[in-house]
Amino acid sequence: MIDFRSDTVTQPSPEMREAIFNAQVGDDVFGDDPTINILEEMAADRLGKEQALFVASGTMGNLVSILAHSNRGDEIIVGDKSHIFKYEAGGASALGGVAYHTVKNHEDGKIDPDDVLNAIRDASDNHNPQTSMIALENTQNMCGGRVLDQFETKIFSDIAKNNNLKFHIDGARIFNAAVKLDIDVKKIVEGADSVSFCLSKGLACPVGSLVCGDGKFIESARKWRKMLGGGMRQAGFLASAGIVALDNMVNRLAEDHENAQKLAFGLSQLPHINIDVNSVETNLVFFEIDLEYRNLVENALNQNEIKGASKRERWRFATHYGIESSDIDITLDIMGSILHG
Ligand SMILES: Cc1ncc(COP(=O)(O)O)c(C=O)c1O
Repeated sequence: MIDFRSDTVTQPSPEMREAIFNAQVGDDVFGDDPTINILEEMAADRLGKEQALFVASGTMGNLVSILAHSNRGDEIIVGDKSHIFKYEAGGASALGGVAYHTVKNHEDGKIDPDDVLNAIRDASDNHNPQTSMIALENTQNMCGGRVLDQFETKIFSDIAKNNNLKFHIDGARIFNAAVKLDIDVKKIVEGADSVSFCLSKGLACPVGSLVCGDGKFIESARKWRKMLGGGMRQAGFLASAGIVALDNMVNRLAEDHENAQKLAFGLSQLPHINIDVNSVETNLVFFEIDLEYRNLVENALNQNEIKGASKRERWRFATHYGIESSDIDITLDIMGSILHG
C-alpha cells in the first residue's frame, strides 16, 4: 500500500523498534523515567529553550501551552486555518474557558501583522476580554505545509512582547520548516515563549509530542498535563523512539520534500489537475481534480491500494518516511492513465 493520507501513518524505523525494546523506564509522574528525562533535555537543547515536557499528542501540547499562558475568560489570537482553531475540538474553550479570536491566514499561510495588532483587546475597557497569547503555526498545515522564516516569526514575537502577551508556536512540523530553510531550528523559534512539536508526524515515532519553554512555563504545563490525564508512567518506551527520531530522522525530511516536489511537478503535467507547484515547500501536496474525474481517479487509486486524503474539491497527499521516489512514479502512472483518458 502507498499511503499519502498523512505523515502520521508512518511505521517506526528498525532502530526505533530496537530502542523501544531496550528502553530503560521508570515512573515519569515521579520524574523517574530516565529515557523521558533524556528526551526532554534533548528537545529543550535542540530548540534552545530551558526545559521540555513530553506529552501524548500535538493537540495536548498546544492545549497545555494555551492553558499555561491563559486564565479563564482570556482570549487567544490564532489563524483561522490553524490546527488549534479548526481541529482541536475547541479544547481551550471547553476546558480552560479561553476564547479564540481568529485572524485571516492567507492562502500561503501568512498572517497580516496588522490583523494581529487590531485583534489585541484593550482590557482596561470592561467590555473586553484580556488577550493572553498569539499563536502561529509552522509549517502551516492547511495552507499547504508552508514555511515561516525567522524574520516573519520575529514580527509576531515582537508584537507579543510589546503588548505583554505570550507567543506560542504550534510547530507540529517545525523540523520540516528548519530543513526547508536549511537553518538551525532554534532560529525560527527564538522569540517564542512556548513551542510544541510532534514526534509522530514526519519524524515517524508511534506516539508523542514535546512542548518547550522556560522552567516556569513547563512547571505549569506539567500541572495541566496531569489535570488532563496526561501524566504517563513508564512512557520511556515511547520516548526512546523520540530520541532516535531527533538523532536520525530530522535530516531525512529533505527526502520527503524532494518526493513532494516530484509529485507536485508530475501532477502539474497531467490534464484536469489544478496545482500550484510553487506552493509546495515541504511534504504536503494540495491539488484539485476536475469534478468529472474525481471518482474515476479515486477508484483507480483504491484499486491499486494507494490512499490519499481527498476532501472532494481539495486533495492532500503527504510524503513521509516509507514513501519512496518509486511510489511517486507508480502513483503518477496510475493517475496519468485515467486523466489522459
Ligand atoms: C499543525 C498541527 N498541529 C497540531 C496537530 C495535532 O497533533 P496530534 O494529531 O498529535 O494531536 C496537527 C495534526 O495533524 C497539526 O497538523
